[in-house]
Amino acid sequence: MTAPTPVQSSERPGFGTQRVAHVSSPALPGEVHVWRVPLECAPREIGHLNGLLNTGERERASRFVFPRDRDHFIAARGRLRLLLGQYLRADPAALDFRYGHAGKPQLEGSDFPFSVSHSAGLALIALGGPGRLGVDVERIRPRRNPDSFRHVLAPAEEAAIDALAPELRERAFFACWTRKEAYLKGRGDGLGFGLDRFEVSVRPDSPAKLLRVPGDPDETLRWELHSLDFEPEYAAALAIEGHGCVLLCFDWGIDQKGAAV
Ligand SMILES: CC(C)(COP(=O)(O)OP(=O)(O)OC[C@H]1O[C@@H](n2cnc3c(N)ncnc32)[C@H](O)[C@@H]1OP(=O)(O)O)[C@@H](O)C(=O)NCCC(=O)NCCS
Repeated sequence: MTAPTPVQSSERPGFGTQRVAHVSSPALPGEVHVWRVPLECAPREIGHLNGLLNTGERERASRFVFPRDRDHFIAARGRLRLLLGQYLRADPAALDFRYGHAGKPQLEGSDFPFSVSHSAGLALIALGGPGRLGVDVERIRPRRNPDSFRHVLAPAEEAAIDALAPELRERAFFACWTRKEAYLKGRGDGLGFGLDRFEVSVRPDSPAKLLRVPGDPDETLRWELHSLDFEPEYAAALAIEGHGCVLLCFDWGIDQKGAAV
């Protein structure tokens, strides 16, 4: 396998203020777009977004115990449909999803890459690029047991976190965790693959990198990892299969009201 071409995008991309209505064409072949999408919506908008979902998605929404979780699911799935509809010039309500062996959604009849993650009222939706995509966002919150990362991460990652000053460990854990989840979501495997079976870079202030996948040395050449630093209380990462893409970040406009089509 040939060596990867240099990364053209910033290691620490920021989010702009573009609104979904301003994106009038699909991502260019050399681009990956990441949308920051708020999940708190007015009841009227939830009704509109719910109208875009299919029967299976509505059934899934109805199974949430708490109305807030239900509405966040509807907002994330509805806005994912709006974005995909816009990028692919398709009717958002007519899109069909198929699901991989561990639940990764993909579009029926299309290999257009996308990935979704949500945490604490916020979703990130990544779209476009040359290969598979995985995105992960986590709200940084103090963990009851700060040692809970032990035996979850790879031993080298644990050691790297241990080597940091105590006040940096929490953020390093979340940087590491989101990099790992983004990669696993890119692969479509989910956590069942084993978080301790591969290594990523740990320090939040150093570039996100897939360092080692035992048994498959080419894997580290196939994937690019990026930290997405947009709010201090969140950690987020993106895994792109392929190299040299321009990474662009967009904010779903707070006054956008979902009128994306
Ligand atoms: C994918 C996974 C890592 C997500 O973890 P999380 O931090 O709780 O959730 P996130 O908010 O980051 O991501 C959720 C989104 O990821 C996507 N997703 C689900 N499964 C996925 C997978 N295997 N790979 C990539 N993306 C996946 C969906 O879009 C989902 O959004 P939705 O819940 O609105 O449909 C975790 O749920 C997992 O490991 N799932 C696999 C379960 C499994 O192995 N099942 C086997 C079949 S029984």
